[in-house]
Amino acid sequence: MPTILGGKSIVLGVTGSIAAFKAADLASKLTQAGAMVDVVLTSSAREFVGVATFAGLTHRPVSVGLYQSNSELGIDHVALARRADLVLIAPATANTIARLAHGVTDDVLTATVLAGSQPLVIAPAMDADMFENPATQANVETLIARGVHFVGPESGRLASGLVGRGRMTEVPEIMDHVRAVLGHHGDLAGRRVVVSAGGTEEAIDPVRVLTNRSTGKMGYAIAEAARDRGADVTLISAPTSLRSPACVTFVKVNSALDMRDAVHEIVADSDLLIMAAAVSDYRPASPTDHKIKKSGDESLNIELIQNPDIIAGASGARLVKVAFAAETRDVVENAGAKLVSKGVAMVVANDVSAEHSGFGTDTNAVTFVYPDRKPEHMPLMDKFDVGNALLDRVLPLLK
Ligand SMILES: Cc1cc2nc3c(=O)[nH]c(=O)nc-3n(C[C@H](O)[C@H](O)[C@H](O)COP(=O)(O)O)c2cc1C
Repeated sequence: MPTILGGKSIVLGVTGSIAAFKAADLASKLTQAGAMVDVVLTSSAREFVGVATFAGLTHRPVSVGLYQSNSELGIDHVALARRADLVLIAPATANTIARLAHGVTDDVLTATVLAGSQPLVIAPAMDADMFENPATQANVETLIARGVHFVGPESGRLASGLVGRGRMTEVPEIMDHVRAVLGHHGDLAGRRVVVSAGGTEEAIDPVRVLTNRSTGKMGYAIAEAARDRGADVTLISAPTSLRSPACVTFVKVNSALDMRDAVHEIVADSDLLIMAAAVSDYRPASPTDHKIKKSGDESLNIELIQNPDIIAGASGARLVKVAFAAETRDVVENAGAKLVSKGVAMVVANDVSAEHSGFGTDTNAVTFVYPDRKPEHMPLMDKFDVGNALLDRVLPLLK
């Protein structure tokens, strides 16, 4: 699954925070995602974590001192500043944030930042009082005004035992921010993309719902793919167990009617709507206010009424619409019928009964069905790659 991180040169600065151990996971995840990761440790960071860990995880030398060069060019900070696509400092101490705000360059990390012009992402970690201190706040403001992208810190229990704002943001979310920053000027920059995902829940009574097997993986993958290409993404999601992606506007809904309202409100000013959600065709006509009790009767009838067709009713001056069709037979024929009934530019037909395809899997085999040309059968691909293949085809259709 090649993401935007593939082949990118990332400098990962690690500073003297108790959260430095989390940077090992970050170095590993960035490397696994295909990035070339050059780790720079401050001398305080080395009190918490070691060179061997990062060298082992990244398969690359680690820079530790201005006068202990590791680079081919002999001057680490110049070499790193030249080749890095992005500098990420995680965790970032109050001290390093202060040094950066004032242009101090007394180690490889700060010198690399000052010598470079690539995007800088900072994930602070410190005690809540240190973060709230006016000096730190002023330094953060200064860096934000210079275009630095801050991630966190989060509120919660801190290593000191205090509860407050100072925890480093978790690794998956930091990765999301890095991807979004790298993709900021991608081919969907300036476009507003709305993606729906997950299986809607239709209330039967206060404790029971009518739903389906959708896990939301396909829609979430599309939202991430669009974000990584620079789009301003809104993900409208029915309940799922997935982590909501960072740098995406997330709207949680439950029922088909909630989803309709959320989608219709936002699409008026959007470029693209991709309905990957599994929306219930029917809902209980009269959900009860109290839990339905087991009675002596052998059967229970629940009357269902039809839900509105969300995508058919979605409109906007420049809106291009893409529908998903989850089918178990006559996949292409049924998708073709949807092209007309829903007024969409393209249908992504999905045989949910096929192996490794459909609900809950990380892969999908889809067919792109168009109004004016032959259907395009795609091989079994990772859902993220399906998302990118879909966006490639939709891009020329945007108004
Ligand atoms: C056990 C321990 C934990 C620390 N954790 C943090 C921290 O989370 N955030 C922070 O800003 N400073 C923390 N400090 C203080 C920094 O290590 C100190 O300010 C140091 O000068 C930072 O240097 P650096 O920014 O060059 O890495 C900690 C110090 C100790 C002894």
